[in-house]
Parts: sequence; structure tokens; C-alpha cells
Amino acid sequence: MSITTLGQFIIEKQMDFPFAKGELSRLLRDIGIASKIISREVNKAGLTQILGDFGSVNVQGEDVKKLDIIGNETFIWALSKGGEVCAMASEENDDMIPLNGFYSKSGKYVVCIDPLDGSSNIDVNVSIGTIFSIYRRISEPGTEPDLKDVLQAGNQLVGAGYVVYGTSTMLVYSTGAGVNGFTLDPSIGEFCLSHPDIMTPKDGKVYSINEGNAAEFPEGVKTYLDWVKGTNKEENRPYTARYIGSMVADFHRNLLKGGVFIYPPTAKAPNGKLRLLFECIPMAFISEQAGGKATIGDGSRILDVIPEKLHQRVPAIMGSANMVDKLEDFMK
Ligand code: AHG
Ligand code: MN
Ligand code: MN
Repeated sequence: MSITTLGQFIIEKQMDFPFAKGELSRLLRDIGIASKIISREVNKAGLTQILGDFGSVNVQGEDVKKLDIIGNETFIWALSKGGEVCAMASEENDDMIPLNGFYSKSGKYVVCIDPLDGSSNIDVNVSIGTIFSIYRRISEPGTEPDLKDVLQAGNQLVGAGYVVYGTSTMLVYSTGAGVNGFTLDPSIGEFCLSHPDIMTPKDGKVYSINEGNAAEFPEGVKTYLDWVKGTNKEENRPYTARYIGSMVADFHRNLLKGGVFIYPPTAKAPNGKLRLLFECIPMAFISEQAGGKATIGDGSRILDVIPEKLHQRVPAIMGSANMVDKLEDFMK
């Protein structure tokens, strides 16, 4: 049998760093455990109709929680266990999150999460995801962590990844040496290496954008959208539109097949809708690690944006390198 489980893979990688204490490995393992629990809950999502909705009480008389909340609590619980993480930040919480009710002073790392991405798709049985990122803390270990530990630019990332709950559950992550994808085999309850060394195609023909907002897009994006619909065989045009409305799922398809994911500024949301810390930075990291690009529309990298606040938003163009460059040309 030539299966490599996520756990085996993490241990193999750790052997490349004989002086490492294994904290990052344990942290990744804990993320794997949280993901499996969320995957199980996601698979039961349709049953909440039978057992009771959020805000109501199910047949056992227990409060039913929304999947976003379950995802958030599961991650906080899983990362509280090991002591590697001193603090977390989540799309679901206004402020930085202490673990076990207090900030662990000894933990070396901080973790940012979007526990449930694409929540509007939960009720209609469409793919959703989880996004995570890991930084080394800036504050002195042994002291109380500080907001600056979480507000780090993406170019400081130690690792990042996402889980897509789709036709199967898949965990994709990188610690800065390429991207690997693992598919959950429910029969053994393990993530198994299914997509080693993912490289995204340089070109593609899929564009993913909520074109319903087109009237509010910057001129460059509008002319680009006309251009993608023109015909030119050598340039793969017309492109194909694909938009699920779950960033993780849209991104994942484009990563494997080639494509560009775009969330531009609009009049209503001048910085776009997506969150820098919880969505854009981790996905940009994966994109670049797989040979793609991720920018904010003025040519600069998402990974170079210095976050000023936890729930900051940023425009995003990410995916196949040549496709990102092309849209950037239109934005000049
Ligand atoms: P979340 O469910 O975590 O709030 O994220 C939803 C995000 C992202 O997943 C998706 O790409 C985007 O919102 C869709 O936005 P529009 O509905 O504006 O297209
Ligand atoms: Mn999200
Ligand atoms: Mn979310």
C-alpha cells in the first residue's frame, strides 16, 4: 500500500528539520483534527432541518448552533489543546481570542481562521470551506501576546491552507516549500496525500467574479470583462465564467485547472468584500506557493499588505500568473 496520511507526511517533513521541536507539526496535526470534526458536522448540515435550526432547540433539547459557530469553537478547542498557539484571530470574533480562556504565554505561534467560508451555501448543499494561517509571534515568548502578533503581513507567514468540503473533503496547505493536497478517506478517518506538489497552470480560461456587481466595478475591471468575452483562439477567449460564491471552492477549482478569482472594489465596498487576514493572505500564499500570483489591483502583492486592523478588507485578484498579469494590465 502506498498511502501517505497527513500525519505521516507532517512527520516526514519534520525530519528535514532535525533541530525543530515539533511544535509546528503538532499545530498542523491539530488543524487536521479540527478539520475532520468540521467535515463531519458539515456532512450532517441538511439534518439540522430535522433536528432544529440555529437559535432553536433540537429534539434532544439542546441548542442548535450555526456551522460557523461550530467551526469556530472546534478550531479554538483544537488549538487550545497543544499549547503551541498563544492567541488566535477569527472572522467570527471582533477581537483577538485567548485560548482556554487566557492567552498562553508560552505558545510560539498565532493562528488566523475563517472557520466557515461560503456560509450562504450551507443551506443549499454547495461546497464550503475553512481557511487558516499560521504566524510566528512577534512579542517575546513568555509574555502576554499582543495585537501586533496577529497583524502581520502575509510575507511573514509560516504556513497557511484551506479545507474544502466538497464532493469529498480536501485539505490543502503549504509551509513555504510548495503546496500539497490531502483527501479525507472517511472509511479510515484520515487525510491521504492525493495531490502532491500542486502547481497551478500559468494560463487558464476560467474567470470567477460576482459579475452582478459589474456596474460598480472600476473601469479597468469593466473593460477586462468585455475583453474576456471577445473571441481569440490563441488567447483562450472567450473565457468561461465559474462562480460558486464560496471563495475556497472557487479558488480550489482555479488552482487545479487554471483560472483567475477576482473580488474587486465596488462603490458599496471600496476595499472589496474579502478579509485580508482571514481570506486573502492565506489564499494568496497558497497561490504563490503553487506558482500563481495574488495582487490587489495596483500590481502589488497581497502578501505585502501590512494589516492595520483585524477585519480589514482588501481587493483581490488571484490565480494563474498570466491571467493575473493580464487583468493588472487593464487596471493601469
Ligand atoms: P464567508 O462565508 O466566510 O462570510 O465568506 C463569503 C465570501 C467568500 O467565500 C465568497 O467568495 C464571497 O463572500 C462571495 O461574495 P458575493 O456574494 O458578494 O459574491
Ligand atoms: Mn469567508
Ligand atoms: Mn466565514
